[in-house]
Amino acid sequence: MGYRTIVAGTDGSPTAARAVDKAARLARITGARLVLVSAVAAESPSSEDAENLLGEAQRAAARRDVEAEVLAPKGRPSEVLTQVAAGTGADLIVVGSAGMGKVRRFSLGGIAEQTAHTAPCDVLIVRTERPDEGPPRKLVYKGLVVGTDGSPTASEAVRKAFDLGMVLETKITVVYVAGDPLIGAIILEKAEAAKPDWVPVETRLVKQQNPAAAIAALAESGVADLIVVGNKGVTGARRFALASVPVELAHRAGRDVLIAKTTDRTLEDLTPGHGGLVTLEGKRYAVYIEENGTHHFLSPRCQHMGCTVDFNDGDKSWDCPCHGSRYRFDGKVFHGPARKDLDPAGIDPLRYRG
Ligand code: FES
Repeated sequence: MGYRTIVAGTDGSPTAARAVDKAARLARITGARLVLVSAVAAESPSSEDAENLLGEAQRAAARRDVEAEVLAPKGRPSEVLTQVAAGTGADLIVVGSAGMGKVRRFSLGGIAEQTAHTAPCDVLIVRTERPDEGPPRKLVYKGLVVGTDGSPTASEAVRKAFDLGMVLETKITVVYVAGDPLIGAIILEKAEAAKPDWVPVETRLVKQQNPAAAIAALAESGVADLIVVGNKGVTGARRFALASVPVELAHRAGRDVLIAKTTDRTLEDLTPGHGGLVTLEGKRYAVYIEENGTHHFLSPRCQHMGCTVDFNDGDKSWDCPCHGSRYRFDGKVFHGPARKDLDPAGIDPLRYRG
C-alpha cells in the first residue's frame, strides 16, 4: 500500500541505522513523508545528543534521495514513537529488531506488544541481527508472505499485503496454517480471487500447529524476506490468543515483519458524514453515509488494477493507495489512472437508511 507518512525511530546505533535506511527506501518508493524520531530521556538537561544523531540519520536518508523531518521529544522511546505516529497521522512506524543498540532504549518486545495492542498504525520491524543481503536498489523486498485464517482481520492483512506487493512490485505467498484443510483451500481460493490484477500470488496450505513457527519457516525457506501479519494475528483454529502470533513473529522470525493494523468495522461503527471499509455478512464493502442518512455501498476494488481503496475523511473521497486513483464519496472517479467509477455493491440502500 502507498504509505503517506512513515515514522522511524533511531538512537544512533547500527541497528537503528539499518531501520532508518529501510524507512527511507520505502519512503522513496511510496512518496511518503519521512519523520525521524529520537527520544530524549525525561531527566536529560539537553537534547543536543539526539539532535546530532538525528542529523546523521537525516543525511543517511538524503543519500536515498529522501528529505526527512526530525523530532526529538522527551519520553520513553516506544511511547514517543507511538505518540509521534499519532500526532503526524503516520500510517507506518519502522524500528530495528535488535533492541536498538547497547542502551536498548527501543525495546523490541515493548514495541511489538504495544503495537499489537495500541499502535495507531502499521509497524515494520526490520531484522538487523543478520548481515544485509543487499537486494537490488529498486526492490526493497523480493517476496512477501502473509498468513490468513479467513477472519476479517487476517483478510485485511492479506489485502494490505496485496497492495504493498503492487507498490513494491513483488510476489506474495498467502499461507493458511493448521485448521481444516478443506476450509483452508476455500479460504485461500477466496483470498487469491481478491488479488489486484498485476500481483503474482501463490497460496500454501501448511499442516502445522503453530502459525508463527510455520510462517517464519516458510519465509526463511527463501519464499519471502518480509512477513505481513495482522495485529490481531492469525488465530488458526482459535487456539491462539489474539496478538500472540504477531508478537511471536516479531521475536522469532529471521525476516522483517510488518504488523498490519487491522480494524474490524461494522456498519454500526460508521456515522453520517463518514465512510470506511466495513464487513457485512462476511464481505468487505466501501460504505459512505450521507448526513441525511443515505447509504452508498460500493465495491472497494479500484478500477485501475484492483487494489483496495480507503476513505479519506478530509476530502470525503475514496483514494487508492497503489497509483493514486481517486473517487467521490459515491464512487464517481475524478482522478486517474482509473477511468471507471467504483462498482456498486448491489446492496439496496433503503434497507439501511437511517
Ligand atoms: S490499482 Fe492503480 S490506482 Fe488503484
